[in-house]
Amino acid sequence: MKRALISDIHSNLEGLQAVLADIKSQGISEIYCLGDIIGYGPNPRECIDLVMQCDVCILGNHDQGALFDPEGFNSGAERAIFWTREQLESPAGDPDQNARRWDFLGELPRNRRENGFLFVHGSARNPLNEYVFPEDIYNQRKMEKIFSLIEKHCFQGHTHVPGVFKESLNFLSPEEINYQYKLTDEKTMINVGSVGQPRDGDPRSCYVILEDNLVTFRRVEYPFETTVRKIYETPDLDNFLGDRLREGR
Ligand SMILES: [Fe+2]
Repeated sequence: MKRALISDIHSNLEGLQAVLADIKSQGISEIYCLGDIIGYGPNPRECIDLVMQCDVCILGNHDQGALFDPEGFNSGAERAIFWTREQLESPAGDPDQNARRWDFLGELPRNRRENGFLFVHGSARNPLNEYVFPEDIYNQRKMEKIFSLIEKHCFQGHTHVPGVFKESLNFLSPEEINYQYKLTDEKTMINVGSVGQPRDGDPRSCYVILEDNLVTFRRVEYPFETTVRKIYETPDLDNFLGDRLREGR
């Protein structure tokens, strides 16, 4: 079975559409979304509607922030969350569709387990909020603790930095492994990167294809100037949220 793993869409419709088109061209049977459908970007409603068609979706911290009181966000991110909530509650929208979107977000699980594979937004220890960054390979205690909670392999997002963490405390970026990694008996955490706000210096959308034991990182170009313009035109979304899309930072 060939599965696509997407994450951190952040209301970036142009990025999501480009990734879904790429997924379609790859003959993929199932799509899993690892959270943060919304927050930061200009098209929350449209992105939720597309993600509702995924086979599995996990709750992200920005999704939770829109549902409840946002906590622990910087001021730009928090303003974006309040603006997002307004869009989802807008009386101008179809009330039934508004309700369907809220119900969908409200019912998202925090994790999913399948035959030794774990799917979360942040980490196995704190599925919603913990970041696992490449430099955490130097934090042995943290990594050992998190790996102890993983049976075989954990797929996650949240940092927007794609790559493979091995239990032997190595981090492999997609470029250095030619965008492919074969899963072995060694435990791994795979960060699938971000569709809508990449932060590894590559502005292209990122997602992962999982086929048997083969993990492939895909980078997909999308018309980010369109997204940037929409962000500039929305006073509640900081211009910085658009600027960073051009650089993938
Ligand atoms: Fe995110």
